[in-house]
Amino acid sequence: MTQIIFDAAVTLNGFLADENHSLQWLFDVPGAGEPDPGLLPQNVGVHVEGANTYLWVLEHENLMAEPARWQELYGAKPTYVFTHRQLPIPDGANVKLLSGSVAEHLPELRRAAGEADIWVLGGGELLGQFLDINALDRLALTIAPATLAGGAALLPRTIGSEKLELTEARQAGPFARLVYRVKP
Ligand SMILES: NC(=O)c1ccc[n+]([C@@H]2O[C@H](COP(=O)([O-])OP(=O)(O)OC[C@H]3O[C@@H](n4cnc5c(N)ncnc54)[C@H](OP(=O)(O)O)[C@@H]3O)[C@@H](O)[C@H]2O)c1
Repeated sequence: MTQIIFDAAVTLNGFLADENHSLQWLFDVPGAGEPDPGLLPQNVGVHVEGANTYLWVLEHENLMAEPARWQELYGAKPTYVFTHRQLPIPDGANVKLLSGSVAEHLPELRRAAGEADIWVLGGGELLGQFLDINALDRLALTIAPATLAGGAALLPRTIGSEKLELTEARQAGPFARLVYRVKP
């Protein structure tokens, strides 16, 4: 059955990115270039992300100028981007722009995923919208040994401990890996 998963790297003090949406703090961790493949969701059929996550990847990977690289990174899997803007899409990339509530788009996301999982890549506001409607099944964090003075918060919400059950805690090289089941 399809699981809806949030899985992201985060600083020790709970930021997903710096003020410029950059993940440089993550790339600077020694060993981050050879990530443990077991850290990534294994059965993903659909990616879901916010506008800034998408725009940062487009720029960082130079995907508008080199659109074939999109297929190298994501294959034919659909990426759904929540945005109020008409964002650019690399030629041939399976990207769909959505706006409105997560609830109204959930049936389409589930249809597109088939038997596979839905990976919510970020950011925190979009994650919060999935939690608001009890649509998230798993929250997985790879915690880096680095802090930021400010930036994009992991989860700008209040979530009580009654909602989260710790199912995994382990070391992954320089990172700490925590996985929670989100209780219905
Ligand atoms: N560390 C990691 O592994 C990781 C992973 C993913 C993301 N990040 C970082 O997280 C930060 C925040 O990401 P984000 O800004 O993409 O996501 P976000 O903070 O969850 O969402 C903010 C933007 O997404 C759009 N959006 C969200 N919900 C929407 C809705 N229901 N309808 C229409 N548009 C909606 C809006 O775009 P518009 O401005 O177009 O209205 C909004 O400005 C970024 O800095 C990113 O780099 C880090």
